[in-house]
Parts: sequence; structure tokens; C-alpha cells
Amino acid sequence: MYRSHNCGELRASDITKKVTLAGWVQKSRDKGFMIWIDLRDRYGITQLIFDEERTSKGMMQQAQKLGREFVVQVEGEVIERASKNPNILTGDIEILVSKLEILNTAKLPPFTIEDETDGGEELRMQYRYLDIRRNPVKDNLIFRHKVTQEVRNYLSKNDFIEVETPYLIKSTPEGARDFVVPSRMNEGQFYALPQSPQTFKQLLMVGGMDKYFQIVKCFRDEDLRADRQPEFTQIDCEMAFVEQEDILNTFEGLTRHLIKEIHGVEIADFPRMTFDEAMKRYGNDKPDIRFGMEFGELNGIAQHKDFNVFNSAELVVGIAVPGGNSYSRKDIDKLIDWVKRPQVGALGMVYVRCNDDGTYKSSVDKFYDQDDLAKWAEATNAKAGDLICVLSGNTNKVRAQLSALRMELAEQLGLRKSNEFAPLWVIDFPLLEWDEDTQRYHAMHHPFTSPKPGQIELLDTNPGAVKANAYDLVLNGNEIGGGSIRIHDKETQSLMFDHLGFTKEEAKAQFGFLMNAFEFGAPPHGGIAFGLDRLVAILGGQETIRDFIAFPKNNSGRDVMIDAPAPIDDDQLKELSLKLNLKS
Ligand code: AMO
Repeated sequence: MYRSHNCGELRASDITKKVTLAGWVQKSRDKGFMIWIDLRDRYGITQLIFDEERTSKGMMQQAQKLGREFVVQVEGEVIERASKNPNILTGDIEILVSKLEILNTAKLPPFTIEDETDGGEELRMQYRYLDIRRNPVKDNLIFRHKVTQEVRNYLSKNDFIEVETPYLIKSTPEGARDFVVPSRMNEGQFYALPQSPQTFKQLLMVGGMDKYFQIVKCFRDEDLRADRQPEFTQIDCEMAFVEQEDILNTFEGLTRHLIKEIHGVEIADFPRMTFDEAMKRYGNDKPDIRFGMEFGELNGIAQHKDFNVFNSAELVVGIAVPGGNSYSRKDIDKLIDWVKRPQVGALGMVYVRCNDDGTYKSSVDKFYDQDDLAKWAEATNAKAGDLICVLSGNTNKVRAQLSALRMELAEQLGLRKSNEFAPLWVIDFPLLEWDEDTQRYHAMHHPFTSPKPGQIELLDTNPGAVKANAYDLVLNGNEIGGGSIRIHDKETQSLMFDHLGFTKEEAKAQFGFLMNAFEFGAPPHGGIAFGLDRLVAILGGQETIRDFIAFPKNNSGRDVMIDAPAPIDDDQLKELSLKLNLKS
């Protein structure tokens, strides 16, 4: 038996017990006549004591040799500590060691295994197994387990069945590039790793599974960000015989359950907002509604004077920054520089100070009088003491820019509180999205999404205006889930592929299996997928998903610990019938 107890469970009530513990040496303090060792495992830290009076000379010498991260097993008696440590749960006791065995030695770790470590990101990723010994990483993984467990509990209780779908498949279009896997047995042919199990979950509905879920890895070859990994995990769900309302209710229930179980908080409000409204009010399809600062459109009240910048703009729009009138000229210049950075891309920013005496002072006083500015204040809901920031230009661009400024200011003002949870359904997404690069329409969600009833005709005349039965779940300004009611008949699906620019042959080659299945009694169905990594990070009060993934990839998609991706040898290439044609 390696241990009778773990390193986090012994208390004053255990005093006099004989115990066996095993773990890692966190640190040791050697006073010569007395040695204390902090022994650590996943559950906590227990102090070991060796002293000249009660410990044999041989064991004292052995204890002196223990280095950081050595793996040891000890037997001993639980005794009361002379000086107690109220900061840890085992702080009332220590173990007077009677037997010590070194199970394994350890090289000096390349960074300190402490909550605050001296290791940089790259080094910690290279030695991720050591990083995982640190509380912040370990706790995040345990937290992820807890969230996942609650997801399984809720869905199982609601009759969902977890079914595994294959990883070696054909392309599933979710808007990213595929990772492909060459097939040895089928020369010159490739599998694609799933960007999501979308088509399979629809086939499970045709198969009569009725309610499916899967906690599943998805693979997307796309540019990485703090909230994106090339392989990530979805809580993938599908239901038969449902309308949008059924899906929204079921997964509002899941979200409420998680926030209740994890944080003990009942969500009072679960609002819904159309895509159009979200864009108008927040310039963004995933608005953070924990705070206000809503957009006020100013076209009607700012385009009647001689200020050409505004007159020639498609949209003039502003936000009120609470308390922003206290900003110095220098602070405001900094904001202007911030919106002019290439990442944001605004050409400039007009501002209005809302003075405490009810007067206004703007950067465009030459063109606008107090009455004009009062109207701007009304439109942006600005109060005395606020600062109104106004941008203008192309509607889509200017909304994105002002939305970025809104988030930045909210961050600066501490309005994005990580312990507050504000979920929001964004509904009625457009079905199609114009892509400038390819000069054609793409499915905004995916090609299996159904148009809103009665809108199919619009596809021919005004495709961009067609709305979809598609919805996103937004939590604190992050898209944590998305789904739709699907097309379930061959004709509509085939029409969709036409509009997306597929020839009949291409559609048949890629998705013939799905359209065939639709001819064998496909029930109406719909579903959603949550990004588990994002959900866990946000419930954990953070936004970087890497911190909640045991072995994440870095920003270039590399695993620096195992050094992947890596070349394969010539024999393997030959076996796979592959020839490399490298540029360098
Ligand atoms: P979608 O593409 O919206 O929908 O993905 C669902 C959710 O997955 C998360 N997500 C990601 N998380 C981390 N890294 C990534 N690279 C990444 N990409 C997406 C997001 C997103 O909301 N098959 C559909 C679902 C459906 O229609 O039912 C789908 O995959 O949180």
C-alpha cells in the first residue's frame, strides 16, 4: 500500500494515528537539528518533521538529501504542530516520520512549482507535466472535470444519449480548413478530421436516436487566438421533433444548471436579441451585456451641418463612457490613438465632454451647438460627467471599431466583472454572408441550417436578407455555443447547395449520403454545440482557453512538449504514396 491517506486530509482529529503518505517534496527547511518537509499531492500539502531527538541519525541524513520534487513515501505518526498554519487545512498537524523511502529522485525543475511561478509560457508548455503540478493549472483541470460532469448529469437526466461518432471522416464545412489524414490502404486518398460531428448527429436523428449528445474533439485549421485552438472540445447536441423554442429552452436550462451548480447563482434573466438588434445596439453579434454603453446612432442629428466627415459617412454612431469627462486631454488622445491602431482601424474619433453644469464641450464645436450636442447625449444616453465617443464611416466597419472601443473601455473601467454571468441568446442570424474574397455567398452558420419559414423565395431575389433558424448563445461577450434548426428534406438541401455555388455533382459527391438519408424519413430536427473550453474558461472567470486545456497548442499550432507537428521519414511517405514538394 503506497498510502493510507492523501496529503490534504489529515486534521487535528487524526492526532496519534499511524499513517502512510506519498507525494512530491514541495520544499524543505533544514535547521540541522530539525528538518521540515512539505509533502504535496493533488489534494494538498502535509508537513513532515524529522528531529534529532526522535529520528534516527541515518534517516536525518536521508532527509537532508531530499531535493525539490523528489517522490517519497513516508510512514509516521500524526502529531500536533508546535506552530500552526491557519492557511492550509492540514495546518494543525504534522507527521513525525518513522520510515522514509525515496521512490524517485528528480532533477531540479526548470521553473518553480508554486502558484506564482518564474517560468515563462513557452517553458511551462515545454514541461507541461510540471506546470500541471501547480495549483492554478491543476485547479483549472479539476474545474473542467466538474463542469463536464454537470453537463453529463443534466443532459443524461433529460434523456440525451451520448454517442461517439468517427474522427476519420470526410470534410464537414464549418468555415475553417480541414486537417487531413492520408490513407495508406487507399492510395492518394485522404480522410478529413471533423470540424464538428454535424452530419453524423443529423444522421443519428434520421436513425431515431431522438436526443443525442457527445463531448467531442473537433479539429479546425484556422488562425489561433486566445479563445481558439486547432483542436478543441464541443458539447455537441441534437434533438428530433423540435422547433427553435424547444432548443432554446433546453439549453437555457443547461446553462442555468451549470451556473447554479458551479457558482450557486440563479440566473434571473435570460434575454434574447435578434442579430440585427445586437449589431445596432452593440455593433457586435456577441455583445457583453453585463454593462450598458449602448450605441446611439447619430445620423439624423449629426448630418445636417457642414462637418463633411459625418455627412459623407454611412453611419455616425457614439457611446457614452460613464464618468469619462474626468479624462484628461492626454487620456482622450490615448483613446484616439487606440482606435487608430491598425487592429481597430478607425480614422479618428470625435468626442463630447458632458460637463456637470449641463453644458457640452466637443472636439467639433465649430460645427455643432449646445442643442445639437444635447441631442447626441440623449441618443447615447449620456449623463453629466460622461464622455461621448463618436466614430463614423462604413456601417460594418464602424460598428466593429466602436464595439472594440466599448470592450476596451469596459475593461479599463472594471465593468467586465468575472464573477457576474450575463447569458444572451442571439437569434435570427442571416442565412448567408457575402464573402469579398471569393465573391460569393457562404452559409453564415453551415449549409444544413434552415431558412426561416416563408423566406425561401427571397433566396432568388435578395439572398443576403434571408434570415435563418440559427442562434448563438453568448456569455459575457463570448460566443459559447451556436446551432440551428436543420433542413430535413432533400429538395431544400439541394436548393441550399445551389445557392452556395455547389454544382449538382459536387453536392452529390460531398453530401450525397446526407441527402440520401433525407429520403428515408428524416424527422424535423435541430441542435446546438457549446465550445466546452470556452464555457469552462468563462465559468472560471477567464477568457484564455489554453489555461483550461491539459496539453494545449501554442499560437503557431505547435505542441512544444512533444514537438509536433514533425516531419515523417521517407519510408512512411512512400507507404502513404506522398511526395513532398517543399519550397525551401
Ligand atoms: P460552431 O462552429 O458555432 O457550430 O461551433 C460551436 C462552438 O464551438 C466553439 N468553437 C471553438 N472553441 C475553441 N476553438 C475553436 N477553434 C473553436 N471553434 C468553435 C465556439 C462555438 O460557439 N456544428 C455546429 C453546431 C450546430 O449547428 O449544432 C458548430 O460546430 O464556442
